[in-house]
Amino acid sequence: MGETSSRKMEHIRMVAEAGVESRESTLLEYVRIVHNPLPEIDLDDVDLTTSFCGTSKKLRAPLMITGMTGGHPDVAWINRELASLAEEMGIAFGVGSQRAAIEDPGLAHTFSIAREAAPSTVVVANLGAPQLSRGYGVREARRAVEMIGADALAIHLNPGQEAYQDEGDPYYSGVLERIIEIADSLDVPVIVKETGTGIPGEVIRLLYRSGVKCFDVSGLGGTNWIKVEVLRSKKRHGAPLRPAGPLSDYWGNPTAVSIVEARLAAPGGYIIASGGVRNGLDAGRSIALGADMAGVALPVLRALLSGGRNSARRLLESIAYQLRTILFMTGSKRVEDLWLAPIVVHGRLRGELESRGVDVDWYTLRGRVEALLWRRRYST
Ligand SMILES: Cc1cc2nc3c(=O)[nH]c(=O)nc-3n(C[C@H](O)[C@H](O)[C@H](O)COP(=O)(O)O)c2cc1C
Repeated sequence: MGETSSRKMEHIRMVAEAGVESRESTLLEYVRIVHNPLPEIDLDDVDLTTSFCGTSKKLRAPLMITGMTGGHPDVAWINRELASLAEEMGIAFGVGSQRAAIEDPGLAHTFSIAREAAPSTVVVANLGAPQLSRGYGVREARRAVEMIGADALAIHLNPGQEAYQDEGDPYYSGVLERIIEIADSLDVPVIVKETGTGIPGEVIRLLYRSGVKCFDVSGLGGTNWIKVEVLRSKKRHGAPLRPAGPLSDYWGNPTAVSIVEARLAAPGGYIIASGGVRNGLDAGRSIALGADMAGVALPVLRALLSGGRNSARRLLESIAYQLRTILFMTGSKRVEDLWLAPIVVHGRLRGELESRGVDVDWYTLRGRVEALLWRRRYST
């Protein structure tokens, strides 16, 4: 088994056991969606169905299990179970980085098992940006997509993780050009995603203007990969090779900030909100802030590992039901109507957004409405 493959196993063990989430929050707690006690709709009127990244596929709820694993025979069952759960619930599923199977095609089944378990729902392929800096291009991107019959390809950004991983690949030169080539060449959409430290508006704007239309902001406030790598290094050597100090808790762009910046930078883009989304209120707040859907990784994996498939299903179903009730209690029949629900943005989130040049009152009162009109006129 190669180095990439055995690292995948170690990561699963680490995140199952250790505290790997940031101390810093998503800042989603500073969003209040205004409750409407007279919604004039029935709970049954709420329709959670949604499209995905400009593809023709429909989801039954605006939720995704974001990419985590594959690449080692012992983790194939995780992809199978989570993908079949996504199929059953009609939500999207992402596999983890397929680098291991590009290096060793004998591992391809640990990813393709996801498509076998989820023949009809959205399944998303995954490659890392550092590999694009070191030779991967359109050919490898096509292989990743074909390997699992993917509906989209996620390219993940993780400079912090690479900088703190013992055997990391902190190579990012030339990545933008490769992403543009891949987005131009593939028949399926490219999603540029972070892995827990968020994407600022400047980067979203650059990519959006270069032809990338889908983003997963994966912001600060949930799983933190600097922390995972520092803990892993400590476990292996007694002390981390590269201590990160406060970076492992506080470095990055919080999820709530990233959502607003992404929506402003890519008004017609498809925005997945992830990084610290833990319940339906987080998901509802993310969508009310301007995201199209919410993504969850760590809690679903932990639920599966500790309580099996039923436990993972209970978690996802409770997130979906909470989201449904939020739509009901705001009089929103459809997911996108949440962009019209009044919200209050206060405290640190307001301060952060203002210092990033966002006129918060304009955004909450008009900006989201304009984005919605833009969306209706020019779909992703
Ligand atoms: C065990 C594990 C493995 C992951 N592996 C990948 C990966 O291979 N590719 C990727 O794009 N993101 C990967 N991620 C990042 C997640 O997709 C997600 O962006 C991040 O964990 C933040 O979401 P969370 O706070 O809900 O966990 C991984 C996350 C976990 C927990």
